[in-house]
Amino acid sequence: MQRLLRLVARVAPTDSTVLVLGESGTGKELVARSLHLLSRRAQGPFVAVNVGAIPEALMESELFGHARGSFTGATTERMGLVEEADHGTLFLDEIGDMPLATQVKLLRMLENGEVRRVGENAPRIVDVRVVAATHRDLTALVADGRFRADLYFRLNVVQLDLPPLRERRDDIGLLASYFLDRAARRQERGALEFTPDAMALLQRYDYPGNVRELENAIEHAVALTEGGAIGPADLPAAIRNPRMLPGTASDAPAFGGASLSGGSALEARPGGEEADTRPLDVVLREHVLRTLHRHRGNATTAAKQLGISRTTLWRMLKRWGVSRSAIKGS
Ligand SMILES: Nc1ncnc2c1ncn2[C@@H]1O[C@H](COP(=O)(O)OP(=O)(O)O)[C@@H](O)[C@H]1O
Ligand SMILES: [Mg+2]
Repeated sequence: MQRLLRLVARVAPTDSTVLVLGESGTGKELVARSLHLLSRRAQGPFVAVNVGAIPEALMESELFGHARGSFTGATTERMGLVEEADHGTLFLDEIGDMPLATQVKLLRMLENGEVRRVGENAPRIVDVRVVAATHRDLTALVADGRFRADLYFRLNVVQLDLPPLRERRDDIGLLASYFLDRAARRQERGALEFTPDAMALLQRYDYPGNVRELENAIEHAVALTEGGAIGPADLPAAIRNPRMLPGTASDAPAFGGASLSGGSALEARPGGEEADTRPLDVVLREHVLRTLHRHRGNATTAAKQLGISRTTLWRMLKRWGVSRSAIKGS
């Protein structure tokens, strides 16, 4: 995280377009805001747009604005979000969801600083720094023809990769303490600390929701706890019992662990005496996932034990819809 922040500080004052990549909850928006605050545009506006949340039909007028009467419902003229970000930073979140037609217009804006409101002929000049983010694999979208290669290269001047929290476990303790102090202050509690058991659980968990999940877990714990220390009982069930699948109410341990989203495929093994009538594919899947789980998600050692190559293992997981990121580092 510190390495990343140094990079942010270095990139911020340049006017470069930045592409921030990472799973949901890893801090992409926080990085975008930091880039803005550390830039010479800090006094200007920071406009955050969730591209994925704008209906396709409204995308163009939301971003670029429209003239009065340019389409049904356009009863007044309106400035778009790009113009609102003039002299500031435009954060385009979930850029991978942008329709191709809008991508063309965005590219034009990036290349010559011009926007054209829907229904207007004359372009307007804007001075906007763009930070874009996505949790998707943009190169795959480019390969599929769903994202323009020229826009991808134009956005990708500087790329910041935010690793999932489970791949930077050293950050867990620091972030947990930070969120604890902040929540204690906000909820007007005295000083709070974690018991060693609670800290051990926090360190061990996989955080599919990344920093956001850790943050929510700590706020939840501070609201629940009665003494001066956060114990295991104050933590959300998923963290307390990491073998339980998220959303499972019972305490029955599931084989896959919270990280294996294909866990429901792991049916209980039929009794030893009974004939095992399951199809080979089901048995295979169970054996592979169980082995992977035993190796705490380490594909290299799991593949070795299974006597197959890592590539073969990944191919199997892909076929079963178990995502690579869900297993890595679990
Ligand atoms: N390094 C960090 N320090 C403190 N809070 C963080 C950090 N990284 C993420 N967060 C917090 O985690 C939550 C999710 O971050 P956000 O930037 O919204 O993630 P994303 O945009 O990748 O989904 C936010 O509340 C954010 O403030
Ligand atoms: Mg976000």
